[in-house]
Amino acid sequence: MSETAAIEFDCLGKVFGRGHKQVRAVHNVTLAIPPGLVYGFLGPNGAGKTTTIRMIMSLIRPTSGTVSVFGKDVLRRHDILKRVGSLVEDATFYTFLSGRKNLEVLARTGDEFNPARIADLLGRVGLADDADRKVKGYSTGMKQRLGLAAALLNDPDLVILDEPTNGLDPAGIQEMRHFIRSLAHTHGKTVFLSSHLLTEVEQVCDRVAIIDQGEIVREGVVSELLSSKLELRVEANPLDKAAELLQEHHAVTRNDTWLSLEAAREATPAIIKRLVDAGIAVYEVSIRRQTLEDYFLAATGNKDGHHD
Ligand SMILES: Nc1ncnc2c1ncn2[C@@H]1O[C@H](COP(=O)(O)OP(=O)(O)OP(=O)(O)O)[C@@H](O)[C@H]1O
Ligand SMILES: [Mg+2]
Repeated sequence: MSETAAIEFDCLGKVFGRGHKQVRAVHNVTLAIPPGLVYGFLGPNGAGKTTTIRMIMSLIRPTSGTVSVFGKDVLRRHDILKRVGSLVEDATFYTFLSGRKNLEVLARTGDEFNPARIADLLGRVGLADDADRKVKGYSTGMKQRLGLAAALLNDPDLVILDEPTNGLDPAGIQEMRHFIRSLAHTHGKTVFLSSHLLTEVEQVCDRVAIIDQGEIVREGVVSELLSSKLELRVEANPLDKAAELLQEHHAVTRNDTWLSLEAAREATPAIIKRLVDAGIAVYEVSIRRQTLEDYFLAATGNKDGHHD
């Protein structure tokens, strides 16, 4: 890829603490995030998402490796972070000021101060009606929206969002997702967002990296990760005999009522024929598209994951 990556991690690692209290939060992460996409960083609680984001923002130092943003090492070329807007866990605001005032204060620490732009931003994040209330009285979702407005204040090329839909109600989540996609696809920004929600990544992101216990376990285009494998479920009798037969050509797993095998859709007729020819009664064959959740659970070995 000749285009400069929006973010590049090179053997990035972070260890907290010393001795036996040591926590390896991020380990040997090497990844290039191409510009102009919504890129998802998906992982369970404690996987290392926020730690990685803090290293992008230069809020903490890597123990090993480097992070570059638009080709510049963030530790050596701090000024590159002017092109980055971020919403990191627990954004803090002046609670005794209104949402609008908070943005004004933040804008004054930057290059320009444009009241019309602030009003426009407040409208875009759905805070127009509450802009002049004190932040003290904001709900979690309102603070999250204000955090997003703050992230966009300096019109960044790269927007980094740590769990952006945290605290939002279902309508707010839909709006936020739409908003995030438009940032990349209409306004040409790169969005890097972390999430522990599979559905979120499926609906919002173009590419995804799955992180577990500090390490990247999968990476790719969301639609390709989803469509590359199909699961075939076969209900037949006797099941043992069917399993034995199909094992010759496929990886088969089974429970009491059905067999599950990985196969392409085109293989289905041959599979049914083989069973029927062997005198096995076939009750049902269904195709299940693997979802990102299946990948996630397989990749992280997490057996008790939940649907949201
Ligand atoms: N300042 C710190 N000191 C010690 N350990 C830390 C510190 N920050 C994070 N950790 C540890 O590093 C690991 C990764 O934490 P991190 O906050 O990056 O996870 P996360 O993927 O953002 O999780 P969540 O989905 O819960 O936000 C965890 O084991 C956490 O306890
Ligand atoms: Mg986190």
